[in-house]
Amino acid sequence: MMYDSLLSCRVEGWWIVLIKMKDNQAIIQSIQLAAAGAMDDKSLMAETVALLQRERSHYNWVGIYLLEKDILVLGPFVGKPTPHTRIPLNQGICGAAASTGQTLILDDVHADPRYLACSLETRSEIIVPIIRDGQVLGEIDIDSDIPAAFREEDRSLLEHVAEILAPKLSSEVTGLQPVLVTAGILTKGDRVLICQRHHSDAYGMQWEFPGGKVEDNEELKESLRRELAEELSIEAAVGDEVFRLRHRYPDRNVEVVFFLVPSYRGTIVNRVFEAVEWAPRARLPQYEFLEADRELVCRMARGEIA
Ligand code: SME
Repeated sequence: MMYDSLLSCRVEGWWIVLIKMKDNQAIIQSIQLAAAGAMDDKSLMAETVALLQRERSHYNWVGIYLLEKDILVLGPFVGKPTPHTRIPLNQGICGAAASTGQTLILDDVHADPRYLACSLETRSEIIVPIIRDGQVLGEIDIDSDIPAAFREEDRSLLEHVAEILAPKLSSEVTGLQPVLVTAGILTKGDRVLICQRHHSDAYGMQWEFPGGKVEDNEELKESLRRELAEELSIEAAVGDEVFRLRHRYPDRNVEVVFFLVPSYRGTIVNRVFEAVEWAPRARLPQYEFLEADRELVCRMARGEIA
């Protein structure tokens, strides 16, 4: 566990360790970092709820509900299991917060007739909607065993966290189907083949791995073979899937499936890119890769993949 600082002192022969929790700004920075590096929205949400509970002792139950049509469906959470894993929009405090798009703070949960009990110990609750483009995607829900536990500083922290999460929630939540893409990892000794997008293409001059969009009814490996022939003029043997990620760009969601390409026939000819390079693995993070590829690039540079 990482804390901002640990102080210790000795009182009457006993060592006392004082743990200083992160302040709001430090929590926000940690979640921003997690958002930049997370493999997918589920792991980001799981990391977020765990971090919030760890850093705030009055957050006894922390969970994220995601709106699916008109039902709030419980996603990652920490704390005791709750019977309320699916809450219709017209029920509970959760439903009220999602319907209005407003943060709700209940100093005394038992004073509100809408309250659905998650645990007998709960005394107060805060619910913060996660909103993107005016649309409620879900909400952060926190229960405390302490009465009136939530103050302005909790509201501002959690509203900021909701803003960080909003652009990261994936297509299942937004209804936008991801574009399925395959990519190939070709290696030569310690080097990896990387391609720079043509300056006239979207995200021009950024680096990526060769591959492309899977066509309707096309099998994934077959699609990659076709792309490698079109882009690099090679006849590739496509091996195992090594990595899969989802990423949301402002205009679209992509799901990228990476395959090893252990061998190929022919000579590599650059047919579509600005440049093609065999880059030393350890230097990969120095290239400006497409946002979606950055997590994989870091892992490859650390020798964790391929
Ligand atoms: N108390 C919420 C239900 C969720 S559980 O607390 C986890 C409500 O009244 O909607």
